[in-house]
Amino acid sequence: MRTLQRTLAIIKPDAVSKRAAGHIVSMILENGFNIIGVKMLHLTKEQAEGFYAVHAGKPFFHSLANFMSSGPCVVLALEKEGDAIPAWRKLMGATNPANAEEGTVRKRFAESIERNAVHGSDAEDTARWELSYFFAGYELAK
Ligand code: RTP
Ligand code: MG
Repeated sequence: MRTLQRTLAIIKPDAVSKRAAGHIVSMILENGFNIIGVKMLHLTKEQAEGFYAVHAGKPFFHSLANFMSSGPCVVLALEKEGDAIPAWRKLMGATNPANAEEGTVRKRFAESIERNAVHGSDAEDTARWELSYFFAGYELAK
C-alpha cells in the first residue's frame, strides 16, 4: 500500500535574505517531494518562541527566536511516499554545517549552527503539530 508522509520545512531568514529560497525549493522538488502548501511569513518573536517552545530553557532559545523573527521565512508543507520526515532531514544535513555532508542544503547554504538555512520536523507527532501551527487543513493541496 502506498503511504504518503508529510513534514514541515522552513527556509529560515538567513537563506531567504541571501536569495537562496528558489534554489532550496528546486532541491526539494528534484528530490521527489511534493509541495502541498507554501507561504512566506515574517514571524513575530512570540510566534517564533511558540514554534520552538520545545527548546524553551535551552541557552540558545532567545537568540533562536530573535533570529527566526529577524526577517521573512518560507514555510512549506512537504509530502513524499513513505519517508518524508527522515528524507527531508537527510537532505537538510546536520544542524551544525561543519558536520553537514556534501550535497545537503546546510552544507551549501548554512552559515553557523544557528543560521542554518532550513528547518525540518523530527518525528510524526511533531510534524503534525508543526503543520497545524502554520496551515489550516483546507490550505493543503489534496
Ligand atoms: P530544526 O529544528 O531547526 O530543524 O533544527 P535541528 O532539528 O537540526 O536542531 P534543533 O536541535 O532542533 O535546534 C533547533 C535550531 O536551534 C538552533 N540552534 N542553535 N547555538 C546553538 O548551539 C544552537 N543549537 C541549535 C538552530 O537554528 C537549530 O536548527
Ligand atoms: Mg529540531
